[in-house]
Amino acid sequence: MNVYDAIKARRTVRKFKQERVPQKNLEILVDCARMAAYGANMQPLKFRIITNDNELTELFPYIKWAGYLADGAPKEGERPCAYIAVLGDTSVKSNGAFETESGAAVTNMMLEAVEMGLATCWLGAINRAEIHNILSLSDNLQVTYLLAVGYPAQESRMVDMQGNDVKYYLDESGTVNVPKRSMEDILIK
Ligand SMILES: Cc1cc2nc3c(=O)[nH]c(=O)nc-3n(C[C@H](O)[C@H](O)[C@H](O)COP(=O)(O)O)c2cc1C
Repeated sequence: MNVYDAIKARRTVRKFKQERVPQKNLEILVDCARMAAYGANMQPLKFRIITNDNELTELFPYIKWAGYLADGAPKEGERPCAYIAVLGDTSVKSNGAFETESGAAVTNMMLEAVEMGLATCWLGAINRAEIHNILSLSDNLQVTYLLAVGYPAQESRMVDMQGNDVKYYLDESGTVNVPKRSMEDILIK
C-alpha cells in the first residue's frame, strides 16, 4: 500500500474484534512514532503499550467516545484489546508542550496500522490524571493521548461535507460517515 492510499483508507474506528494484536505489531507502531519529526529533534515522548486485561478494564470509564453519536462507544465485546499511551517526558522537555509532537507520533502510528490491517481511534477526551494513576506512571510523564488499536469491527468512510456540517453520523447499515471538506473549500488560490 502506498502512503496516499493509506492516508485515504485510514478512518477512525471505535468498535473492534476481540482478537489480540501481536505485541510485535504494537512495538512496530511505537517504532514508527519513534521515527516521527520532532521540533529541534528533542524526541520528548515515551510510549506505553496497554494490553493487560485489568488495565484495559480500568481505563475504559475514563475515555469518551464519539461525541457526535448518541450510541458511539464500544459495547462489551467491541472494546479495543490494546491502547498505546503517548506520554510527554518533562525530564526531556520541561515546558510541557507535547501536542505537536504527539500529533506527529500518533499520525505515524495510525498510518502504519492501516498497512497492518489494523484500525485506530485517537483519543483526547480522556481523564489524564486517572489514566496516569492506573498506569502507575512516574511524575515526569504526562499523558497526552491514547491510541486505541485493534482489528476493526465497524465500517467507516469519508463523505462529501454538506455545508459546514462536520458531524460524523451512522447510516442505516451502521457505517460511520465522516464528512470531509472539499479541495475547493480548503485550497486558497
Ligand atoms: C486530537 C484528537 C482527539 C480525538 N479524541 C477523540 C476522542 O476522545 N474520542 C473519540 O471517539 N474520537 C476522538 N478523535 C477522533 C476524531 O473524532 C476523528 O478523527 C474525526 O471524527 C475524523 O474522523 P477520521 O479520523 O475517520 O477521519 C480524536 C481525534 C483527534 C485528532
